[in-house]
Amino acid sequence: MAPISIWAIEEEFEVVAENFELHPLARGRSISRLPVSSGRESSINSESLQDRVAVVTGASSGIGAAVGRALGREGVHVALAARRPDALHEVQAGLDQQRGAAKSLVVPTDVTDRRQVKSLVARTEQELGPIDILVNCAGVMFYTLMRNLRQDEWERTVEVNCKGALNCIGAVLPGMLARGRGHIVTISSDAGRRVFPGLSVYSASKFFVEALSQGLRLETAGTGIKVTTVQPGNVATDLSSLSTDAEALELYAQPSGARVLDPEDVAGSVLYALRQPDHAAVNEILVEPRDEPV
Ligand SMILES: NC(=O)c1ccc[n+]([C@@H]2O[C@H](COP(=O)([O-])OP(=O)(O)OC[C@H]3O[C@@H](n4cnc5c(N)ncnc54)[C@H](OP(=O)(O)O)[C@@H]3O)[C@@H](O)[C@H]2O)c1
Repeated sequence: MAPISIWAIEEEFEVVAENFELHPLARGRSISRLPVSSGRESSINSESLQDRVAVVTGASSGIGAAVGRALGREGVHVALAARRPDALHEVQAGLDQQRGAAKSLVVPTDVTDRRQVKSLVARTEQELGPIDILVNCAGVMFYTLMRNLRQDEWERTVEVNCKGALNCIGAVLPGMLARGRGHIVTISSDAGRRVFPGLSVYSASKFFVEALSQGLRLETAGTGIKVTTVQPGNVATDLSSLSTDAEALELYAQPSGARVLDPEDVAGSVLYALRQPDHAAVNEILVEPRDEPV
């Protein structure tokens, strides 16, 4: 009999209650404006996403493409953003084939360019409506040893993973604050919790997005905005194919033999966070291959 693979998804989440007066980590600042309830009665994990509007960056492949497809299946109108138009159009064609698929838009965008990101947001709002959800998925990863001084790769990592996320958050935040609702999800990594050798700069970039998200969450408590990081372990995508440092690859990038995650597993975690009722926030999700815990 063929072996049966059993997947274990570790999910760690914090639920934040809405009826507080002082956020415990707000360092003495009281919450001046409590979020307005949606008025919808819902149970955990059942909020409908129908007709929401989302921007997904890094949507041309891997996890971002899977998130785009998953949102489309939920009836979310999705703007697909990344640099490669052909790959984005292919993802969009898949969305169109999904039964009951919502509207979608392809917007070729380099997230390191603030003007392009602003026009991504402007076009999305014009064609799909006000943005409810941002999924920051664009990212790069280079296995490399610090002593090998791949400074261009260090810089690229900071440009895409750190500045790219900042550009996207900066472009959607004013609108979300004005509307008193919005959900910013960033695909971080288990490397945002623990530093992996051979991935020092990548891990630092993911610690950056974790700190950024934590600060944003604390500052926006009481405004109706939710901030989530999803921290995947190994996922079967092309991410590590960018690496050129053979020594680092040999030392640290050898497969463990464990079955790794599929992009759809991570998309499932994103949906889990998005589907929570209005008053509940899933702030972090660590999702890893069962046999590769950090
Ligand atoms: N795979 C894993 O094991 C793993 C684990 C933990 C976290 N993650 C995170 O998951 C995210 C997605 O990675 P993936 O695994 O799905 O790999 P992937 O298939 O290589 O996807 C990376 C995506 O980022 C986009 N991108 C890269 N540079 C960009 C730029 N300057 N502007 C806009 N988009 C850009 C790429 O599209 P274009 O080339 O078309 O621009 C692509 O769509 C990354 O943030 C990664 O750090 C992955």
